[in-house]
Amino acid sequence: MIGKTNYWPAEQLQAGVLEAAAVLAEGGIIAFPTETVYGLGGDAGNTKAVERIFAAKGRPSDNPLIVHIAKQEAVYGLAERVSEIEEILMAAFWPGPLTLVLPVKAGAVSALVTAGLDTIAVRVPAHDVARRLIEQSGCPLAAPSANRSGRPSPTQARHVMEDLEGLIHGVLDGGATGVGLESTVVRVLGNQIHILRPGGITREQLLEVAGAEAVIITPAAGSEEAPKTSGLTQAPRSPGIKYAHYAPKGEMVLVTGHSDEQIAVVQEKIVEAKRRGSMVGVLSCTEHTVYYEADFVFDCGSRNHPELAAHSLYGILRECDERGLDFIIAEGYPEQGIGAALMNRLRKAAGGHEITV
Ligand code: TXA
Ligand code: MG
Repeated sequence: MIGKTNYWPAEQLQAGVLEAAAVLAEGGIIAFPTETVYGLGGDAGNTKAVERIFAAKGRPSDNPLIVHIAKQEAVYGLAERVSEIEEILMAAFWPGPLTLVLPVKAGAVSALVTAGLDTIAVRVPAHDVARRLIEQSGCPLAAPSANRSGRPSPTQARHVMEDLEGLIHGVLDGGATGVGLESTVVRVLGNQIHILRPGGITREQLLEVAGAEAVIITPAAGSEEAPKTSGLTQAPRSPGIKYAHYAPKGEMVLVTGHSDEQIAVVQEKIVEAKRRGSMVGVLSCTEHTVYYEADFVFDCGSRNHPELAAHSLYGILRECDERGLDFIIAEGYPEQGIGAALMNRLRKAAGGHEITV
């Protein structure tokens, strides 16, 4: 328990960043906006600060943290080496929602940050407040998403307060985050780019810049795990994969497939659940909302614009709990572009409970 959590509203961010940076320099922990979700930052070189992050989140200590830097140059102080493909990815996507897992330089950060692995995850966030905070504090910031472990990542300062008020030193309110899902985590091995966690940078975007000789290896459906490869390299894994995430309190089912049949199955599921006496919620695409008579129907955005559903998903999952929904039916979206990351998160939220029509 830390006590009072400072809240800096949008109008006070100028002063807020200076005050928050001073708290970070003293080993405190501060939540800040990024373009993906809010992060909970602490000095990556200060073991006490990193311990505070794990404690506030209730995060298992074997799940390593992403280190946030303000400028690409800082990566060379953290990574033992950076390959040509990694250079190309950094040039194309930083600042932005791409995290690179690189061989760690010994002693660069507290061993707690990397959970004892020989690699370090690094990114440059594309958010002015985040970058100013890192620059002002003068240290790379270890920052997981600013939620209690197992809750949806926060996309608004209010979500951070719901989960962590009294447990952290402060939160900078930069309004709603843009992407709404976390960064894409990749590990480059030889000419293979392994996506350990799909996110804000899409497979298609990686393919476009990585060049014809690079191979993009995507994780198996519904997991953050890269499939086993037949080559010399062992498929890398992200320690985060073994933990459950984002699940709302109510039971959730995902219905994927062709749109007409999808509507029929969702309608059927609503009727069944109502008959059992459940409070039913539907996460629907805009095109289908008119077909559903549930206790609450969330309009997640057009089927043709999965970025809207990505932007609003975590807020909606939190609202399912606030509304006391005990049965939630979510429609699947096409898996192109950001749709892949969206479906990854929906599958996790549904605990793998999926009906394909
Ligand atoms: O968009 C984001 O990435 C947000 C914002 C705040 O930057 N951060 C975020 O952090 O989502 P977190 O801690 O919630 O997720 C970090 C993921 C976890 O799945 C973790 O296992 C993985 O990155 N990770 C961190 N270091 C790693 C490493 N050395 N090797 C493999 N995976 C790693
Ligand atoms: Mg997280």
